[in-house]
Amino acid sequence: MKYLVTGAAGFIGSAVVERLCAMGLEVIGIDNLNDYYEVSLKEARLARIAHPLFTFVTLDLADREGVANLFSEHKFNRVIHLAAQAGVRYSIDNPMAYADSNLVGHLTILEGCRHHNIEHLVYASSSSVYGLNQKMPFDTADSVDHPISLYAATKKSNELMAHTYSHLYGVPTTGLRFFTVYGLWGCPDMALFKFTKKIVNGEQIDVYNNGDMRRDFTYIDDIVEGIIRIQNVIPEKFEDWTVESGSPATSSAPYRVYNIGHGSPVKLMEFIEALETSLGVEAKKNFMPMQPGDVYATYADTKDLFEATDYKPQVKVAEGVKAFVDWYREYYK
Ligand SMILES: NC(=O)c1ccc[n+]([C@@H]2O[C@H](COP(=O)([O-])OP(=O)(O)OC[C@H]3O[C@@H](n4cnc5c(N)ncnc54)[C@H](O)[C@@H]3O)[C@@H](O)[C@H]2O)c1
Repeated sequence: MKYLVTGAAGFIGSAVVERLCAMGLEVIGIDNLNDYYEVSLKEARLARIAHPLFTFVTLDLADREGVANLFSEHKFNRVIHLAAQAGVRYSIDNPMAYADSNLVGHLTILEGCRHHNIEHLVYASSSSVYGLNQKMPFDTADSVDHPISLYAATKKSNELMAHTYSHLYGVPTTGLRFFTVYGLWGCPDMALFKFTKKIVNGEQIDVYNNGDMRRDFTYIDDIVEGIIRIQNVIPEKFEDWTVESGSPATSSAPYRVYNIGHGSPVKLMEFIEALETSLGVEAKKNFMPMQPGDVYATYADTKDLFEATDYKPQVKVAEGVKAFVDWYREYYK
């Protein structure tokens, strides 16, 4: 079995590559190593993986010819597509980065899958697609037509594009809506990372919406476990399916969408308390209004994921935050 993992130098991608290699599977990983955040962290993740079954290729998803050649050269069985321009706030000032990486980039991967009979494409969507939805928990059976950031709109577009390829060309696709992923080797743009850095440096942390927010924080190991299990659950055609009787997360085509989150939202202030406990320092807090593009709460309904994989994310915030802090201390000395 040969896998393509995109975003292999990223937070989630590098953890998935590590796991696949440990399972004895061959992996080609691509990443453009862009400087959205410190490139040295991406390089350190790659250096850490260094495994005989892993080959890294520096490649931009939007390089149509480069991606097409990669698919022709390697004859992948499965694709786990995690590269994207992430971040809600960054999309306000840098919209074109999202068009290039998340729209054109997603299409180059779909084209590769279409022309090379890929068994299964698993790709990253996001809880941000729930946008203005207020019904909790967020359910994949609900419509998600009201995104409130361009990032979210591109992730919803990824699901629509995947559906088209599943329908027209029979490419089995599974979209995973990740809920606030945190943990070791994480992204510097995640709240936990920023908070830790500022607290350690004795600086104030910005607490949005005066701390009145809830997030369904999901630990990296749970995300990896979910991805590994779901890539073995290949969606099938479902001839009797109709729009009227089915859910938006299913189709007559081999297409599925799942939430992948812990399934228990935590108050932002409780999350900060867990961090203070792990660091043994009380944070200086700068209470701020809600930021444009942010949603008030996220909460994943995980019953479909459980039904498909027999797995429910396990790691509790106190445990996950402590593991992150231990890693942060060691990595940044
Ligand atoms: N971390 C989260 O909380 C979270 C939540 C929801 C969805 N997601 C999604 O999960 C996926 C992985 O996120 P992550 O947290 O690992 O982020 P990340 O930024 O660490 O990883 C993404 C990787 O993709 C690479 N990349 C970006 N644009 C590229 C391009 N055009 N060509 C090639 N490589 C490119 C980046 O260099 C980076 O290494 C993304 O699709 C993201 O949108 C993440």
